[in-house]
Amino acid sequence: EEFFVVKSDFKGKKVLITMGPTQEALDPVRYISNHSSGKMGVALANAFLSRGAEVFVVSGPISLKVNKSNFHWQDVKSAKEMFEVASKIHNQMDICVFAAAVADYAPAEIAPEKIKKSDTKLSISLVKNVDIAAKLGSNKKQNQVHIGFALETENEAENAQSKLAKKNFDMIVLNSMKESGAGFQVDTNKVHIFHASGFAVQSEVESKNKIAALIIDQIKNIPVWV
Ligand code: CTP
Ligand code: CA
Repeated sequence: EEFFVVKSDFKGKKVLITMGPTQEALDPVRYISNHSSGKMGVALANAFLSRGAEVFVVSGPISLKVNKSNFHWQDVKSAKEMFEVASKIHNQMDICVFAAAVADYAPAEIAPEKIKKSDTKLSISLVKNVDIAAKLGSNKKQNQVHIGFALETENEAENAQSKLAKKNFDMIVLNSMKESGAGFQVDTNKVHIFHASGFAVQSEVESKNKIAALIIDQIKNIPVWV
């Protein structure tokens, strides 16, 4: 599937998108990760591209087929690597979209050799990863837009809105886990979008491409944008 510029309302804009899962190594052959497919991130990248933006992708390991040559594309594995790459370009960006499912913790140590099986129980010590969105959010430039994602299983709106404030987002997209056809690995999604201004909208269950267009349309309601 090729994407063409169909609108140019984001022409000249530089957009950073983090996407996919992160992989946190335990030893040379094992890691801790999650089920993020990167589908929403890729849909966003293609949608921004089709509207004239220059798109900088920092992606954890995903198996989707993407024409990476359309983007400034950097593959990473761990949260630490994702943070390092994103930090380097953050300052030049007009819009930052934090769509990655970053592992919250990583093994305290990476064993140099494959961990051998021994006792019936094994404990692994984990340490908290850097919060990429929060850290870059505390360095947000004037007129820069930051967009986050949230997936909650309880107190959804409340939790999403508290993340919006904590990470200095202008807008947060809440994935509705409970709605059919939404979540990881699927092609559809249903979202609530909360603005820092208090304004909120919700979608129906739609394709991730339609959701991407809706999210991008909402950027135009952000005060710094207009
Ligand atoms: N995020 C990030 N770096 C992290 C964790 C999260 O950049 N280490 C970003 C995600 O990409 C997303 C937003 O922060 O845009 C919210 O992620 P989420 O996992 O829902 O929030 P957490 O702060 O990790 O809270 P929790 O998992 O405890 O709900
Ligand atoms: Ca998390």
